Amino acid sequence: MTRFAEWLSQTYLSIVIQNHNSWVIPTIQSIHIVAIGVVVGSVFMVDLRIMGWAGMDQTLRQTTNRFGPWLTGGLYVLLATGGLMVIGEPVRELVTVSFWIKMFLVAVGTLVATVFQISLRKYDQDWEERVCSRASTKWLAILTFLIWVAIIILGRLIAYDHVWGSWSPAQKA
Ligand code: HEM
Repeated sequence: MTRFAEWLSQTYLSIVIQNHNSWVIPTIQSIHIVAIGVVVGSVFMVDLRIMGWAGMDQTLRQTTNRFGPWLTGGLYVLLATGGLMVIGEPVRELVTVSFWIKMFLVAVGTLVATVFQISLRKYDQDWEERVCSRASTKWLAILTFLIWVAIIILGRLIAYDHVWGSWSPAQKA
């Protein structure tokens, strides 16, 4: 991975970003952070509805129709800005354990959100009448929210990967 990261840092786009590092990376990071608010805020609203703690004047389908597009759009922005940060600073990002655990959890969180939205569209009557009130569904809502919180913590930990000690490839690179 170190060799790939070194190769990536010599590519045209990476060099352009590195040459304007002082403002490009902070700008991309700021957009990344705003998109985190949009994504986690959307997940939070749907989870609150599943828990029965907010939005009870709307059906689960209405709540998801409202926040789902924000979640999807926010994820695209995170993918684009995150990708640009990786291209701009490949060695800093790719040679950390925090980055790879984060990517794994982003994939899990995205998969759960996608399966949930497809299932809700197909079986919305079932969801309103039975599935939503099950304890297991409520626990899943809490678990998925915690996954997004863990992603935020891991995103910040990329800069402090030494906390993983010998598990961090950055220590061996
Ligand atoms: C979708 C793919 C994503 C990619 C490729 C990506 C990539 C990155 C990269 C490269 C950094 C810079 C880390 C550093 O150099 O310090 C970063 C920061 C961060 N990311 Fe992501 N990210 C993605 C999605 C997400 C998501 C979904 C969240 C949370 C919901 C998130 C939360 C964060 C946080 C909190 C930071 C630290 C920002 C800072 O302190 O400036 N990222 N991400």
